[in-house]
Amino acid sequence: MVYNPTVLFDGHLTTLEMQVLVPIEEHVEMDFNIVEVAKRLNNNSTYVQMSLKAYERVPDAFVITRAIAAFERTFISGNSKYDQAEYQGKKVLSRSEKRGKKLFFEKLYCTQCHSGFNFTNYKTLNNGLYEVYADSGRMRVTKLEKDRAMFKVPTLRNIMLSAPYMHDGSLASIDEVIDHYESGGKNHKNKSEILQPFKLTPKQRKDLIAFLHTLTDLDFISNKRYSSPF
Ligand code: HEC
Repeated sequence: MVYNPTVLFDGHLTTLEMQVLVPIEEHVEMDFNIVEVAKRLNNNSTYVQMSLKAYERVPDAFVITRAIAAFERTFISGNSKYDQAEYQGKKVLSRSEKRGKKLFFEKLYCTQCHSGFNFTNYKTLNNGLYEVYADSGRMRVTKLEKDRAMFKVPTLRNIMLSAPYMHDGSLASIDEVIDHYESGGKNHKNKSEILQPFKLTPKQRKDLIAFLHTLTDLDFISNKRYSSPF
């Protein structure tokens, strides 16, 4: 998260601090409010002590937004098999994984959007999921037609652990995602021209999926600092 210039699928917030307020208040998420959250934390002496120690004030909106954002900025996934091969010079990739990597980076067009060490160019784009979207995406914020159904290009780090896929979770598996890209996507006026139909052999599909598995970082997902920080 620390590297993202914007947060949320419509890319409308620029700080993790602001993002914290969204799920607390959003009706389909916690449907609550930050003042009440602060009151509850003030009833817990552990939180009060920690807050005083870190911020020299009792829990309030300032502390809650800063503390959660600071915690999120420690989530750095950098020891997947892919990272070990790419950045630590280790020969850990199997032949199939290497073939999949070549498909991803060279033969297909995936890296035109899922680029760089975070596998995203951080832009909001349309990848042709629907002809008519229920969610207007970035347009909800800008009110501009050119932003209709534009969604942030998500990272692909740890992607094999995060099904279902896309902003609405409508694709249940990585096979469905590959089917989608193979088809070239649905017609939408904002669909990126990069997307073109292609056909993978069953072996190539297996290789591509094997490559996507190399983005799983087992150290990251089993790190106790994230699952039980106290
Ligand atoms: C034109 C830019 C673009 C290209 C090229 C592209 N993607 Fe995407 N990708 C996106 C966008 C935008 C989303 C999010 C769409 C949404 O949420 O509705 C996405 C979502 C995904 C997701 C789901 C991520 C998640 O967390 O839900 C996967 C997996 C994925 N892409 C893989 C690929 C693969 C593999 C390729 C190459 C075959 C590829 N993408 C090519 C823009 C692109």
